[in-house]
Amino acid sequence: MRFYSLDKLINLHDGYRKVFKIDQYQLILLQLDGERYLLESTCPHRGHPISESDITGTTLRCALHGYQFDIASGQLIAATAQPCRGLNTYPLIYQDTEIGVML
Ligand code: FES
Repeated sequence: MRFYSLDKLINLHDGYRKVFKIDQYQLILLQLDGERYLLESTCPHRGHPISESDITGTTLRCALHGYQFDIASGQLIAATAQPCRGLNTYPLIYQDTEIGVML
């Protein structure tokens, strides 16, 4: 595993949403109410982009079929049809002035 820098801390702000592709990983970095989250960037149900989701509190609602996930744990909260697995989440790593991930 090694550190991959995603962005400079100075660029992050509430409402920040940015997608990254690193090797086979497709990730989205979000900041909401001062909290930062790193998740897989496609819905585990049918692969819709998470970047288009509505987020209320810590509940993310996929724009395609409305499945809901907790953005902190990735856990599936509600499904409108057959349940799917939760979203993969990744711990954020802070290194000097940068934020990143170990992959
Ligand atoms: S693709 Fe996200 S809920 Fe179906």
